[in-house]
Amino acid sequence: MPAELIDGVSIAREIRQEIAEKAARLAERGIRPGLAVVLVGDDPASAVYVRSKGRACDEAGMYSSTINLPATTSQPELLEVVNRLNADSRIHGILVQMPLPKQLDADTVIRAIDPRKDVDGFHPVNIGKLLIGERDGFVPCTPAGIQEMLRRSAIETSGAECVIVGRSNIVGKPMAALLMQDAAGANGTVTVCHRHTRDLGAHTKRADILIVAAGRAGLVTADMIRPGAVVIDVGMNRIDDPNSSRGYRLVGDVDFESVSKVASRITPVPGGVGPMTIAMLMSNTVKAAEQIGAA
Ligand code: GUN
Repeated sequence: MPAELIDGVSIAREIRQEIAEKAARLAERGIRPGLAVVLVGDDPASAVYVRSKGRACDEAGMYSSTINLPATTSQPELLEVVNRLNADSRIHGILVQMPLPKQLDADTVIRAIDPRKDVDGFHPVNIGKLLIGERDGFVPCTPAGIQEMLRRSAIETSGAECVIVGRSNIVGKPMAALLMQDAAGANGTVTVCHRHTRDLGAHTKRADILIVAAGRAGLVTADMIRPGAVVIDVGMNRIDDPNSSRGYRLVGDVDFESVSKVASRITPVPGGVGPMTIAMLMSNTVKAAEQIGAA
């Protein structure tokens, strides 16, 4: 039987509705959650993400501000913008879109963001809080979205073999930290694979829940999947497609065609993890507004 799709679009819509209700309750207390997105340069894929973040905020009744900076922006200029947003009382969440142009040092920029406004969850303070299980920090949006997607799809993580392919600071590492916690929606047995892993397929084949965030189109094929596994595809790769009006199409890291015949549940690309990431960004912004507003 073909795998059932995990529909990120409809789960994210449900979450955004809940966020709009929370934002409305905060508004009654005079607090309007505000998100600032900083985009340096004109990478077209980043521009698409940033626009959809702004639209989602508007729909939820949140304040949003996009700061477009030229690709030639210097490190002091970007830090100046971050410092201004740290001090701006309308702004509860700050996101600096990655990747940054090469003259800019992402680690320094991330450290400059007030951890209380770090809705990306990339600041070392928030990564540390995630690792030790402190709940008042921010969890990076993509792993948080995957956990929420599993929870709302009634997929049991407790005791499950969770195999993650990819060890980025944005997805793989925080995903591992999240699933290994002694907490609801976690308690998994976690394996993290990367480009030095010997026999990748031997690991992925053990997975009850396989999460792939490697950035390589078609990396995971049907022979690497345990029958009945749940497969979460974080990949977002543009491949040439002369039949498409844009000249390319988006595919994940998982060979959907073959894997969907073996897995029990699978996320599509697009329409799987992507919409969840934006929903969690908004959720983190509302959490920041609640915490800063109450301070
Ligand atoms: N680029 C790709 N994903 C992300 C994300 O979650 N946050 C930021 N800041 N940049 C990204």
